[in-house]
Formats: sequence, structure tokens, C-alpha cells
Amino acid sequence: MTAEPLEIHLEERDLDRSLRDDVRAGLTADPKWLPPKWFYDARGSELFEEITRLPEYYPTRAERAALGRHASRIAAVTGAKTLIELGSGSSEKTRLLLDALSGQGTLGTFVPLDVSVSALRQSTAAIAADYPHLRVRGIVGDFTRHLDRLPAGGRRLVAFLGGTIGNLLPAERATFLAATRAALEAGDWLLLGTDLVKDPGIIVPAYDDAAGVTTEFNRNVLRVINRELGADFVPDDFRHVAVWDAEREWIEMRLRAQRPMRVRVLDLTVDFAEGEELRTEVSAKFRPEGVATELAAAGFTAEELWTDPDGLFGLTLARAI
Ligand code: SAH
Ligand code: AVI
Repeated sequence: MTAEPLEIHLEERDLDRSLRDDVRAGLTADPKWLPPKWFYDARGSELFEEITRLPEYYPTRAERAALGRHASRIAAVTGAKTLIELGSGSSEKTRLLLDALSGQGTLGTFVPLDVSVSALRQSTAAIAADYPHLRVRGIVGDFTRHLDRLPAGGRRLVAFLGGTIGNLLPAERATFLAATRAALEAGDWLLLGTDLVKDPGIIVPAYDDAAGVTTEFNRNVLRVINRELGADFVPDDFRHVAVWDAEREWIEMRLRAQRPMRVRVLDLTVDFAEGEELRTEVSAKFRPEGVATELAAAGFTAEELWTDPDGLFGLTLARAI
């Protein structure tokens, strides 16, 4: 079966307006920041896939190991008819869930949702080709804004993998989890991947790899703004910085100006002092009890928490109550 045409819930002009709003808010703030969703144009999505194959970047391998061990249990417990995946990217690891759910004969529909059109085009085509019995409905959308548009009915399992929930700030996380719960019926399921707190000696290199792929991923947000908004950032003049915040238990990616710079974007003139940093991403790391508490506050009960054999990455299966 071929994938259905992508459902576009985020049109060009909508995207353009929210990029403008974010750039205006972030670059006029002190300290300056940008939200991480703007990394992911076609090149950014490719760079992320490259990151997942780096020796230092353990989260993808660890989550795959946990999914491989527990996918059949997830399928048996949820009996899902519809699998919805938020921030789906390539959906490569998701195949473990598709295999288990298809194997037991319950799954009929797969609904990946992502802000990246290029990632969705590739993933929906590949999955429709390899899982011909499934209906594949890709949605171009923003999981911080469009959860009210998820398909209703059936026994639903929402997967939010990769630790992407850690890229939301704590208040955004609470809003996101509440919106996810509101989109579901009691008895539906959420499978949440969370990277776990561990020795920063393991975390920091994952965000500052020797080959410099994360540097290019980080700078890509400036390339997106140059292209989409006609800005004149010189990306190579910003240095990639990854800093572990021990108090908040998150790693921050920043871009540090290597010289004084004046950037024109929209109707703004944005000055960077030498050494000034622009925050481009936080990636929070979690403790199991914290995950369960945040889920409970949003109306879920965490029924099972698994990790990979090395205890690096967590997978929580939660039921909407
Ligand atoms: N789930 C995949 C990809 C993780 S990368 C994995 O585990 O490997 C994060 C993905 O989320 C990217 O594909 C990016 O395009 C998407 N994304 C980031 N912010 C988003 C948002 N606000 N709404 C929808 N998708 C988003
Ligand atoms: C998508 N997200 C979970 C990644 C992370 O690890 O926070 C994005 C990323 N940033 C740098 N490397 C990968």
C-alpha cells in the first residue's frame, strides 16, 4: 500500500508566522534563545539521523535496546489498533513496535506526526512499502499546538520517543502532557522515552561529538533563519557549546559568538558581543520518580518503566485515567 497524502496541519504561512514570532521573541530576549523545533529542515533532519549513528550518542541505541526487549509486552498490554507517533522523524525504532503490534494482529493505522515535511515524506513512504497491511496517515504538525487534531477512536497508543520530551522546558512539558491526555480517552496509552540522569562524562560527549556533527546540527538553526527570513547570520562564526546544568539536570546547547556581530533579521538589528551565547536547546535528563510524578499530574498512571540493560534510557508505558 502507498502512504496516504500527508495531512498538512501546519501550512507554509503558519510555519512562517510562528518562526517570525519565535525569532522576534528569542533574539530580543536577554539572554537570547531560539526553540529547538527550527533545527529540523531537510538538512537538520538528516544531521539528526547522522547524530543517532555517532559513537558518543547513546540515546538512540539505548532506546532501541529497551524497545527491542519490551515491544511484545507493550503490544500485549495495549492491544493498540492505532499507533500515533509524535516527533516521529525517521520512525526507524518505531518499526519494533509496528512489528510487535502487527504480529498480534491488532494494528490497523499508523499516524506519524512531525514538523519536518522531508522526514515525514521519507518515513511514510518507507513504512507504507514495508507494512502493506497498514494505513499510514502522516501529519505535518506541531506537537505543541496540534494535538487536538489527532485521530479519535480505537484503542490508541501515542509514542513519544527519543527523549524529545526533554527538549521542552518544564512548564512546556506539563502543558504538552496535559494536551496529550486531553486528546485521549481513558484507557488509551502513552509510551514515553526519556533519557535518564547519569554521569555528565557520558552525557556531554553525546552533545559535543568529536566529528563535529552536532556542531553543524546546532548551526543549522541559523541557516534556516537565513534562508526563511533573509537574515545574515554567519553560522561558522558561532562556536557550538554543550553545557551540563547539574541543578536543573539538563544539557544546554548554545551558539557562542566568536567575534562581535551585528545581524539583520526581520526589522531587527541584533547585536552579539564577543563570547555572547544564544541558547538553542535544552535536553532534560530524567529520574524515574520524576517521570511518574509528571505523568500523574497530567492524568496518566505510569504502569511500567523499563530501561536498556545499561540503565541509560527509560521507556514508560502509561495509561490515561
Ligand atoms: N523520534 C525520533 C526523532 C527524534 S528527533 C527518534 O527518536 O529518533 C526530534 C523530532 O521531532 C524531529 O523529527 C523533529 O522534526 C520533530 N519535532 C521537533 N519539534 C517538534 C514540534 N514542535 N512538533 C512536531 N515535531 C517536532
Ligand atoms: C531530539 N532530541 C531528543 C535530541 C536530544 O538528544 O535532545 C536532539 C539533539 N540535540 C543534540 N543532539 C541531539
